[in-house]
Amino acid sequence: MRLQRVIQYAQTLLSHSIEKGEIAVDGTAGNGHDTLFLSQLVGESGHVYAFDVQQQAVDATQSRLTEHGVTNATVILDGHENVANYVGNEIAGAIFNLGYLPGADHSIVTKGNTTIVAIEQLLQLLKVGGIIVLVIYHGHEGGKEERDEVLRFVSSLPQKYVHVLRYEFINQQNDPPFIVAMEKVKPFQS
Ligand SMILES: C[S@@+](CC[C@H](N)C(=O)[O-])C[C@H]1O[C@@H](n2cnc3c(N)ncnc32)[C@H](O)[C@@H]1O
Repeated sequence: MRLQRVIQYAQTLLSHSIEKGEIAVDGTAGNGHDTLFLSQLVGESGHVYAFDVQQQAVDATQSRLTEHGVTNATVILDGHENVANYVGNEIAGAIFNLGYLPGADHSIVTKGNTTIVAIEQLLQLLKVGGIIVLVIYHGHEGGKEERDEVLRFVSSLPQKYVHVLRYEFINQQNDPPFIVAMEKVKPFQS
């Protein structure tokens, strides 16, 4: 057995929680790799909502989807902290790649406070058994602050309702990305 790399493991987690016909969210569309992956998981009868604050990312994601003939995804030029304004139904899973868009302006990065607002909204919408995956890149300016803020928040989630996993290679150089995954195990109100 080989240990799955971070991106591979993120995809494994999502593929075990998302089924055809369900709704999924890509919190950081970027170049659209994850949006495309999610669109394949939910199939034609499902839907993906993808968010990004940069027009460049929205265009890149839309082009990737068009290139692959994908029609079950909506790409939204807005912050993921506004996800509840666009998604009202139960979701099966979500992914975030925290950090900056490769090849673009490195000063436009995800931020701890807005990432946390988005996670709070998505946890409410998430089905029991659903998973939110964060791939945390933290080598850039501001990355460690966001990492620590997000880790403080997810560590404090009540284990009765949410199980939180950290998956990380601990002998790699140069701030390798790691995963935080949240599985909802019980509806919040009960
Ligand atoms: C690491 S990149 C995402 C890479 C992407 N998953 C892919 O497959 O190419 C992070 C993205 O988050 C976006 N971003 C930053 N703040 C955001 C916010 N508040 N809401 C949504 N996207 C945001 C950036 O514009 C950037 O495109």
